[in-house]
Amino acid sequence: MPLRIAFIVDPLDALKPYKDSSIAMMRAAQAAGHAVCTIQQPSIHWTTQHGVCAEATSIVLLESNSEWYVEGESMIGPLRGFDAVIMRKDPPFDMEYVTTTWLLERAEADGARIFNSPRALRDHSEKFAITEFAEFTVPTLVTRDAGMIREFIGTHRDTVLKPLDGMGGSQVFRVRDDDPNRNVIIETLTRDGQRTIMAQRFIPAISEGDKRILIIGGEVVPYCLARIPMAGETRGNLAAGGRGEARPLSTRDREIAETLAPMLAERGMIFVGIDVIGDWLTEINVTSPTCMVEICQQTGFDSAAMFIKAVEASCGAEPIPPTENDSDES
Ligand SMILES: Nc1ncnc2c1ncn2[C@@H]1O[C@H](COP(=O)(O)OP(=O)(O)O)[C@@H](O)[C@H]1O
Ligand SMILES: [Mg+2]
Repeated sequence: MPLRIAFIVDPLDALKPYKDSSIAMMRAAQAAGHAVCTIQQPSIHWTTQHGVCAEATSIVLLESNSEWYVEGESMIGPLRGFDAVIMRKDPPFDMEYVTTTWLLERAEADGARIFNSPRALRDHSEKFAITEFAEFTVPTLVTRDAGMIREFIGTHRDTVLKPLDGMGGSQVFRVRDDDPNRNVIIETLTRDGQRTIMAQRFIPAISEGDKRILIIGGEVVPYCLARIPMAGETRGNLAAGGRGEARPLSTRDREIAETLAPMLAERGMIFVGIDVIGDWLTEINVTSPTCMVEICQQTGFDSAAMFIKAVEASCGAEPIPPTENDSDES
């Protein structure tokens, strides 16, 4: 049975079709025979009469990356009217994002099937969530106390300080104990002690890349995307000029990912991207993980198709058999 799948995404023209994982998922959904709609965050609302509704626009995905979609009809209706709703709105994780998770959780209570689980989206801070898996992390401190941060830097000598709610490498500082700007960096990041941040021992293996490992429906994708910092840069983020190189997982990558996978899946997280530097877990990305396209281009492993299979499984749907016209080459 074809499913009706709605994707909550940023404005379509802000997405980059040559690398965007949400578009890869929508293309995979269409290729599997499902109907695809998009929803914009501002249209999600609740009324006593109809519960949680949104304006959904049906789209047809095209192969071209210049004109990548054609829009069809738009309709306002309840989220429970879809077989699955995929929340792929990018952070910032601000109060509007939290409010959207409240609305989606209400829709879920009324029978909608939402991925990732709105509660899990709200509860998992992408940085703080590693504290649950301390056996896989380097020495880390979460505090807003300048004295504790100074002491941490003194003990570990070479450290990274970062905000808890950043992304794309924004405001991530490498700080050594002899850095003349050490105290200013602490004051700036903690806003003079008003904001809690994370301090972490510097992991030298970052020169070999910050590895993004995808976990889909509780299964670990066998290739990661190592994001390698450009020369003279600490941050591996693609947004900070890093280069993405797909690689098979190491034994340690697998150990970490396979320990987390069933626990995260159990909490309704159908798609998670964990970050591992060297042998250490540094982030658990749940809001809108990426890197599907790069992994597929370099290895042929289609994690977007794997994601749609996981959605089908969670809807209790059988995959749609290919029609006679479908060639094996497509
Ligand atoms: N403990 C660390 N050791 C070495 N490099 C780190 C460490 N933490 C972060 N980095 C570098 O900073 C980048 C961004 O940090 P990260 O924690 O991933 O935050 P963001 O959410 O901004 O991606 C990483 O890709 C990596 O290059
Ligand atoms: Mg990161």
